Amino acid sequence: MGLTRDFFIKLSENQALNAAAKRYGLALGANKVVAGVDIPSTIKAIRVLNAKGITATVDNLGEFVFSKEEATKAKNEILAMIEAIHESGVKAHMSIKLTQIGLDVDEEFCYENVREILLKAHACGNMHINMDTEDYKHTMQTFAILDRLKGEFKNVGTVIQAYLYRATEDIDQYQDVRLRLVKGAYKEPAEIAYQSKEDIDENYIKLIEQRLLNAKAMTSIATHDHDIIDHAKRFIAQHNLNKELIEFQMLYGFRTELQEQIANEGYQFCVYVPFGQDWYGYFMRRLAERPQNLQLVTKSIFTP
Ligand code: FDA
Repeated sequence: MGLTRDFFIKLSENQALNAAAKRYGLALGANKVVAGVDIPSTIKAIRVLNAKGITATVDNLGEFVFSKEEATKAKNEILAMIEAIHESGVKAHMSIKLTQIGLDVDEEFCYENVREILLKAHACGNMHINMDTEDYKHTMQTFAILDRLKGEFKNVGTVIQAYLYRATEDIDQYQDVRLRLVKGAYKEPAEIAYQSKEDIDENYIKLIEQRLLNAKAMTSIATHDHDIIDHAKRFIAQHNLNKELIEFQMLYGFRTELQEQIANEGYQFCVYVPFGQDWYGYFMRRLAERPQNLQLVTKSIFTP
């Protein structure tokens, strides 16, 4: 299992394979977890979700951005998607990764890019923009940019990773900011992060409860873990919490029956919808996370 995970992580980091994959459409079964390579196909996929009572948070896929030109291109793609969401009237907002819009090039340049995105989103019906969190260094930079922007904009939020020891304080710090709570997807050292699944799950539940009792803004519980979802549902019922300020989130293509079931039970549900030509790294990380997802690849090869 460990070997498989490392193997797919290595594949996800291979820049030559990333570049080669861009020349092909969605291959190897990636179309099951990536909504489309362009804006029209992605809007179409969001309409299908909306028809089931599910909203979307849209992510423009992109990796290895180390120049201002690439970052500006990615920013323009995000701006175009914001406009398309607004004009089409679909129920969706956007998630962005700051490394894609210049965090590794120059922090001030990245800050200006985020500001431009927030201004555009504000003009497009005050659309929400979520700043995804990445590895620890970039997460701290993302929080620093959030701290500069949250006074000026109400349509910006971020993600709290439950594996980080500091997450409890961050949740208190951002009571009035829209937050997504996740377990955390990167490999972090024991000095800063819980290592075992048990410890991470325990802290995740603790953080969900802490946040739900104190939140002054929307909370997204983003997990495929049915035990944790059931726990959260029980907690919401026990404390008679306002469901308008709570939603569940999962990734596009994962546990779709459970997604629909939760939406049908009257909870708000939002699906993370990745799109774009740069699908390869994202797809490999999903395989690393859960080797059972390999079924997507084998099915695509063996199903004509
Ligand atoms: P986990 O993978 O621990 O699974 C728990 C259990 O759930 C499994 O043992 C299994 O029983 C069941 N299960 C899980 N997947 C299943 C499947 N496909 N089918 C059947 N059963 C399944 N991370 C980050 O660091 N920064 C971020 O910004 C984000 N953003 C984000 C958005 C959204 C919408 C999601 C869903 C996730 C993220 N993440 C993230 C990723 C997150 O941190 C985490 O790595 C993954 O969600 C995997 O953890 P889970 O909570 O899904 O459960």
